[in-house]
Amino acid sequence: MDVIFLGPPGAGKGTQAQILEERDGIRQLSTGDMLRRNRAAGTELGRKAQAYMDRGDLVPDDVIIAMVEDELNKPGDVLFDGFPRTVTQAEALDAMLRRHDRQAAVVLFAIPLEAVEERLTGRWTNPKTGRVYHEKFHPPARPGIDDDGTPLVQREDDKVETVRKRLDVYERQTSPLIDYYGDRLIPIDATKALQTVTAELAAKLKGAVA
Ligand code: AP5
Repeated sequence: MDVIFLGPPGAGKGTQAQILEERDGIRQLSTGDMLRRNRAAGTELGRKAQAYMDRGDLVPDDVIIAMVEDELNKPGDVLFDGFPRTVTQAEALDAMLRRHDRQAAVVLFAIPLEAVEERLTGRWTNPKTGRVYHEKFHPPARPGIDDDGTPLVQREDDKVETVRKRLDVYERQTSPLIDYYGDRLIPIDATKALQTVTAELAAKLKGAVA
């Protein structure tokens, strides 16, 4: 079964997706990471997305939907991290899942928006692998450096002003998905410590598959 992670920026979606990918082998499909990789490689898609991302706006739906559709032709279960983000994207994903005869569990990372600002401004990322740390809540073994020796960096869009814009965009454009999915949502308490969230997620996903 595929899995969709829904929730505000900084709720911990990417962190939990990486844990599930390593533990269960489900393929993390992070639209944010895909866009950042395109940007770093200087592709046409990356150039198109850059201005939107730097401002904290969403990249247009048609660009994102085409990018995801390609990925669904590959084998194996997929964990959608950061997609869908609008009702248009959710409708497109439902249609794609039907076409490919796939089903998805939808997990909502429930956390008040006030709680995520500190998580984002203290986040450090491995630019090669996308692995995520936090200077206070989930520090790397060596400050500023990942286990593979790569220096960690802060994301351009994690500056305070851009974080506030992203939270506003989430409220206006993405939170309507809570009504869209309605009874299908599996809520988890994303305010808890990282390992507690991992345990709740595992238990609830097991229940969804059974
Ligand atoms: P994207 O990369 O998807 O960013 P996001 O959704 O804003 O999500 P984040 O990566 O910021 O947060 P997260 O929930 O993954 O949190 P994380 O696990 O890192 O999108 C970036 C941009 O790309 C968008 O603004 C848009 O422009 C574009 N884009 C992407 N997808 C798009 C789409 N579908 N449509 C249109 N545009 C799109 O955790 C955050 C921090 O908290 C980390 O430091 C972590 O260590 C820490 N942490 C995690 N869990 C906990 C915990 N339980 N307790 C304490 N700290 C924790």
